[in-house]
Amino acid sequence: MIILSIETSCDDTGIAIIKSSDKKDFNFSILSNIISSQIEIHKKWGGVYPTLAKREHQKNLVPVLTKALKQSKMLKKTLQTKPEKVKTLEKILEREKDLLKKLEKFLNKYENPNIDLITVTTGPGLEPCLWVGINFAKALSYYWNIPIIPVNHIEAHILANFVDKQQIINKKELFPAICLVVSGGHTQLILMKDINKYKILGETRDDAAGECFDKTAKILGLSYPGGPIIASEAEKCKAQSPFISLPRPMIYTKDYDFSFSGLKTAVLYKVKSEKEKGKNKKYIQKMAYEIQQAIIDVLIKKTLKAAKDYKAKTIILGGGVSANKELRKQFKEKIKKEMPDTKYLIPDSKLCTDNAVMIAITGLCHKNKKTSWKKLKAEANLRI
Ligand code: KG4
Ligand code: ZN
Repeated sequence: MIILSIETSCDDTGIAIIKSSDKKDFNFSILSNIISSQIEIHKKWGGVYPTLAKREHQKNLVPVLTKALKQSKMLKKTLQTKPEKVKTLEKILEREKDLLKKLEKFLNKYENPNIDLITVTTGPGLEPCLWVGINFAKALSYYWNIPIIPVNHIEAHILANFVDKQQIINKKELFPAICLVVSGGHTQLILMKDINKYKILGETRDDAAGECFDKTAKILGLSYPGGPIIASEAEKCKAQSPFISLPRPMIYTKDYDFSFSGLKTAVLYKVKSEKEKGKNKKYIQKMAYEIQQAIIDVLIKKTLKAAKDYKAKTIILGGGVSANKELRKQFKEKIKKEMPDTKYLIPDSKLCTDNAVMIAITGLCHKNKKTSWKKLKAEANLRI
């Protein structure tokens, strides 16, 4: 079975094509995995603007699809056009006129590829961005006559762990698992009893961890996205003690919730009251170090608490923030020390941030959820 997957929930336009053997969900090969990042566009604003992001997705989707098909050796010129299908296509993409023009050109030029299934992120995410990807998926599904599977972006961040770890899918050894999904939009602790069986134990009450990285980076005059930049500034901070102390919000509360907006405010006040120091490179490095460490401390403490309380056999990380090197390292050390029998899964760094391969394999795990393109809709606040 060949699956084409589409991801546009935030500021990355992703399309992947995977080939799976029908027998086992995680037995597949990646034919292509294309991502077009919008970082350069959003850098100027220090964050993602949904309408700008939507416009970029419209521009990028057809070139990204062409590249993905080409890399998968599935791009063949056609002699046949289907004028009878144009009217419905225009209706599906009536709000995405730029995309429609590009797609019509593409469909008139290339043959139907040999794809069996389309999977697309339907939520959670930025609504205008979700809709572009969904309408694009609908148009292809209609034109090529292929069923669609809607995918939850949060579940996909969790299942990204199984892209490279096909050998450890022994459910008895894996579950129950505690999953920490940390991204720009979410910070959730999830109890996973099986693929398909999830329960949110706790989540952030305000900003997500990634959002805290992004916003504090902006306060420090650093670029977007803040996570990788704070991480690289923190790495330059050689001092054993950074001499700056920031709060670890909610670290000792009995629940599994988080809060990061207080940390952001603390950074803002410190930087304002120490204006002169703010211009000093070393001060920025120390501040970055302490911001990163404060976030890591809270994430590790709460995740290990949940893992102990629920006797988890595995701790699973996912989402953009889990690409953070220090977080990955410190998690590993803490688990080894405090829960040596617990397995620890993290996706390859490239699969932590948004990508379409994770959308493909999540769809693969929900093969029974095939639906008609007519039923698909965006759900910005979709829960796992
Ligand atoms: O999962 P993701 O690509 O998109 C969402 O679903 O939100 O996550 C993006 C977030 C951003 O906030 C970014 O700053 C953060 O992940 N991020 C990192 C790192 N790489 C990306 N945070 C900390 N360290 C990193 N290396
Ligand atoms: Zn994400």
